[in-house]
Amino acid sequence: MDYRNLIFRVEAKIQLKNGDWLPEIDFDNASTTPVFTSVMDKINDFMHIYGSVDGGQSQRARNTMHLFEEARTIVLNFVKGDKNKDIVIFLKNTTEAINKLSYRLLEHGRKDVVLTTEMEHYSNNLPWRGKYTIDYIMVDNQGRLSLEDLEAKLSKYNGAVKLVTVCGVSNITGYINPIHRIAEIAHKYKAQIHVDGAQYIPHLPVDMKPPDSPQHIDYFTFSAHKMYAPFGSGALIGPKALFEKGIPEYAGDRTAKYISFDSVIWELPPLKEEAGTPNVIGVIALTEAIKTLTELGMENVQKYEGELLQYAIQKLRQIQDLHLYIDSSTSSIGIIPFNLKGVPHDILSRILANEAGIVTRNGEIDATIYVNKLLTTYPDATQNYIGGITPSSPGLVRISFALYNTKDEIDILVDLLHKISKDKKLYVEKYKTSSTV
Ligand SMILES: Cc1ncc(COP(=O)(O)O)c(C=O)c1O
Repeated sequence: MDYRNLIFRVEAKIQLKNGDWLPEIDFDNASTTPVFTSVMDKINDFMHIYGSVDGGQSQRARNTMHLFEEARTIVLNFVKGDKNKDIVIFLKNTTEAINKLSYRLLEHGRKDVVLTTEMEHYSNNLPWRGKYTIDYIMVDNQGRLSLEDLEAKLSKYNGAVKLVTVCGVSNITGYINPIHRIAEIAHKYKAQIHVDGAQYIPHLPVDMKPPDSPQHIDYFTFSAHKMYAPFGSGALIGPKALFEKGIPEYAGDRTAKYISFDSVIWELPPLKEEAGTPNVIGVIALTEAIKTLTELGMENVQKYEGELLQYAIQKLRQIQDLHLYIDSSTSSIGIIPFNLKGVPHDILSRILANEAGIVTRNGEIDATIYVNKLLTTYPDATQNYIGGITPSSPGLVRISFALYNTKDEIDILVDLLHKISKDKKLYVEKYKTSSTV
């Protein structure tokens, strides 16, 4: 299967600093993936029938409402949520979904304990602050989540932990957390589990498991723009019962059936939780991305990306002075964080972009606590900068694959890294001040 053909404008060229035009090598898929051509076609088709979702009686409005409601079933099936218990709430992205969850789990007059981890993206850290007593499950020296520490903390709080909230996959190391094992441990101590699925759902089959299973995932969140659909839509999946109680943190359009001066009859969830006119186009695009991924089979996607990862690790290991911040025996998806000793991360990222059109991310990548911990494992790689040049802050370079990347692209990266490693001074001098194309 040629996955590359599935991507819209995959061979589009960019101009390098030296004037050459080349196809871009996009190794920043953990930030955002390009879209599927099928998604673009769907958006174009949909615009012909696009109408209001506010209960209008035009044919366009009825079609639009039908597709929007049908999208909930498509998402629920894709994550194997429970048809009787769970609902799908459409929101802007993972960040908004986690914020919603953090508000809706609050109970008046209580400050429950939420266990998050040292490896989270800001989006699964900041929303919990101020509302709950937060504690952090530790990671070991390789950056792997400690299940011993999880259990120790659950035991220490003795039933007071309301929620364990973990990323399914780290946005820095690509490590896959054993979410079902974590669920078992959390449930043993009467805590619920939320999985931040932003980096999980584009690469692995999701299975929330039945509610009566100890391995059940209570809440799952994700963003469409990391899975081949455009920005602006994402979802929170969780039990309807939670959202039937209480009032939403945002209210207004579509959230109420009736209001008087001093009373409200709320809509039922999920409507109650989706204040304002929703991003219907984003949701329709998401359903098409799900359809394409389902046809491909997530197991096949996982297998192909796993091959890319192993290939890249084995080649990158041969580059002198290149430090990989991952342990390749830990199960992970195609994300590789690294530093080249003597070349600050921001300059390295710029060299790759300018010399070969290779797109990477660099810095602390919205996970400062985790990245700082990883950096201490190889201090050599972040010191000894040439000519006293230091990046504005500590960090690393991250490459992240998606299903359309190829071994040929990895070869281009590896060849260039060999060259940079041999001629560090020259490259650093050339790129220490220039901007990226
Ligand atoms: C693990 C993880 N969680 C949450 C987010 C936030 O995603 P969004 O900006 O789509 O809300 C990201 C983004 O990179 C992420 O990697």
